[in-house]
Amino acid sequence: MIMRPSVFVTFVATILAGSLDIARGTMQLAARSPARVYGKCTVPNSVALTFDDGPYVYLNDLVTLLNRESVKGTFFFNGNNWACIYNPSLTDSINLAYHSGHQIASHTWGHKRMTNLTWDKMHDEMWRVEQALLRILGVSPAFMRPPYGEYNPTLLEAASMRNQSIVNWDFDSEDGKSATVVRQKALYDEAIARRPSTILSLQHEVHNTSVYETLPYAIRKLKAAGYKFLTVAECLGGLPPYGHVGKPEVRNANWTCNQALLI
Ligand SMILES: *[C@@H]1O[C@H](CO)[C@@H](O)[C@H](O)[C@H]1NC(C)=O
Ligand SMILES: *[C@@H]1O[C@H](CO)[C@@H](O)[C@H](O)[C@H]1NC(C)=O
Ligand SMILES: *[C@@H]1O[C@H](CO)[C@@H](O)[C@H](O)[C@H]1NC(C)=O
Ligand SMILES: *[C@@H]1O[C@H](CO)[C@@H](O)[C@H](O)[C@H]1NC(C)=O
Ligand SMILES: [Zn+2]
Repeated sequence: MIMRPSVFVTFVATILAGSLDIARGTMQLAARSPARVYGKCTVPNSVALTFDDGPYVYLNDLVTLLNRESVKGTFFFNGNNWACIYNPSLTDSINLAYHSGHQIASHTWGHKRMTNLTWDKMHDEMWRVEQALLRILGVSPAFMRPPYGEYNPTLLEAASMRNQSIVNWDFDSEDGKSATVVRQKALYDEAIARRPSTILSLQHEVHNTSVYETLPYAIRKLKAAGYKFLTVAECLGGLPPYGHVGKPEVRNANWTCNQALLI
């Protein structure tokens, strides 16, 4: 692009002013629409099982179970919550999940309450896990679930800038609220008895009872009720699960949860 010097100076000044405004969190985002927020599937008769707070030690078994049952799931991964996403055994499990056709999405880096964060810190929490998924899988997630499902207008603007939609849920197995397995199974039974057209579930892969006890039961009951299991992107009518799909990187010393090295 060739520009007259005076035009060029204005151009650079505009860009600089824009990025400073972004850095200060003061940019007026009149032109940008906030991120979409999804809380329900739209494809009739579908269930999207979603798993938060991993990757963790049960992930490999969880993916193996889903694959054995021919069930697709969606994983909202943190970068550094119950474990570090760069742990080699976890990057193996993440690869297994991705290459088995499950959807990989963001749950932000450190499971912070996003509505408490400044604009910069919000972006940092989103970027770090996106960077990890770019390195490990070569993809940028198109979907993000904020920790605790909490968002505000600032987060919707930030997610929109990052080309992401927000996904919450319409069924909570309550495993994150320490519900017993008996209670979790009863919640599934009640939900299935109401037979809603669609279910978008919330469960957590970091509790072994969720993986080994509740999930096999829920899959059996949901199958018997005639639901089909789709990823979140599929159950919303076939949206792209990723904003970008490329090649993974080869592991190097920067693959660390030591924050000092990531900046
Ligand atoms: C969020 O902010 C509120 C009010 O300032 C504070 O009480 C709460 O502890 C904060 N929560 C977290 C997780 O930082
Ligand atoms: C399940 O997790 C609990 C702690 O939450 C632990 O005590 C138990 O050993 C775990 N069991 C298995 C099979 O991993
Ligand atoms: C944003 O994400 C969509 C998929 O949701 C993708 O098709 C598009 O190329 C992405 N845009 C940019 C600028 O990355
Ligand atoms: C690690 O990150 C540093 C700082 O961004 C960069 O200079 C270096 O090239 C990276 N190393 C590798 C192997 O990518
Ligand atoms: Zn969570």
